Amino acid sequence: MNSFGRPIDYLRISVTDRCNERCLYCRPHQYAGWQGTADGLTDTDLLRIARVAAELGFRKFRLTGGEPLLRPNLTGVVREMTRLAGVQCLGISTNGLKLPGLAAPLRAAGARTVNISLDALTPSVYRRITGGPVEPVLEGIRAALDARFEFVKLNTVLMRGVNEEELWPLIRFSSEHGIPLRLIELMPLTSRDVLTPANFLSVGEVIRWLRQREELVPQPDLRLGHGPAKYYRLAKSGAVVGFIGAMTNLHFCDTCNKMRLTADGRLRPCLGHHDELDLRDALAETESDEPLRRLFELAITNKPWEHAFREGFNPCRPMTAIGG
Ligand code: 5AD
Ligand code: SF4
Repeated sequence: MNSFGRPIDYLRISVTDRCNERCLYCRPHQYAGWQGTADGLTDTDLLRIARVAAELGFRKFRLTGGEPLLRPNLTGVVREMTRLAGVQCLGISTNGLKLPGLAAPLRAAGARTVNISLDALTPSVYRRITGGPVEPVLEGIRAALDARFEFVKLNTVLMRGVNEEELWPLIRFSSEHGIPLRLIELMPLTSRDVLTPANFLSVGEVIRWLRQREELVPQPDLRLGHGPAKYYRLAKSGAVVGFIGAMTNLHFCDTCNKMRLTADGRLRPCLGHHDELDLRDALAETESDEPLRRLFELAITNKPWEHAFREGFNPCRPMTAIGG
């Protein structure tokens, strides 16, 4: 199925709204909903939703959270989901903390790619951003590389005054490990005070700044996943850097292929619009998948052309609940 001519074939599933970090830009400190609650959807629900999605043409799936690796039996879910007809690629987005124990089992279960958040390498800066230590994440990255995922990618959210000094070390670190680094513009998610004119750092500014040091060679044909990153190769170091300019790229949404499933069972057609369709009644209907199918079709039909982040968007639900 498609929306404004864009094929919608990528489903990002938040498998839990719990998290073991407290990132500045996500910041679920005051969010009471997540703590200790059982995960909203059962494994059976998740697999049924993925099966129906695959029947409707979804081909790429990503498990997110919160922190997806906190979900019990994630490995079992991955194993079953990757066996569904139509599921071509399943990836995971994680903060990396639990990868040392889980990278190999998840890979063996059929996960093909893993995206790991890494906003800083300096331990004090990392702790300032996430509330925790960086060393276990570095160990998680090593575990992911050892487990031989088809792609390991690093994600860094750009924050002026917080991690711009980290960008060069992060680029060097990722190129030494032969993995791409993606630099993401801060989006107004979770709460309104997260993004201010003072801490916003655009990809355009970072590109200009990197160009003063090294030639940046655009890689228009490089597709390292299914998302909107634009990749460049740094001529001298060979580093591959992707830019996700959700706020400043006016064509960001032109190729959007995504739909999101929130941890509590709602389909969210766009991160930057509040509309959601609740799947729970349809899930309670065990005789037929028709109601579920209809809600998916409705969500695709209602998917907006572009996000409303530039129009004073007021987030009302934490990112942890929506799914990164
Ligand atoms: N702005 C931009 N990116 C965000 N992420 C989480 N919150 C935000 C935000 N407010 C990113 C994390 C993670 C991915 C799942 O989403 O860095 O890599
Ligand atoms: Fe947790 Fe991810 Fe939110 Fe950080 S961005 S607090 S790792 S869910």
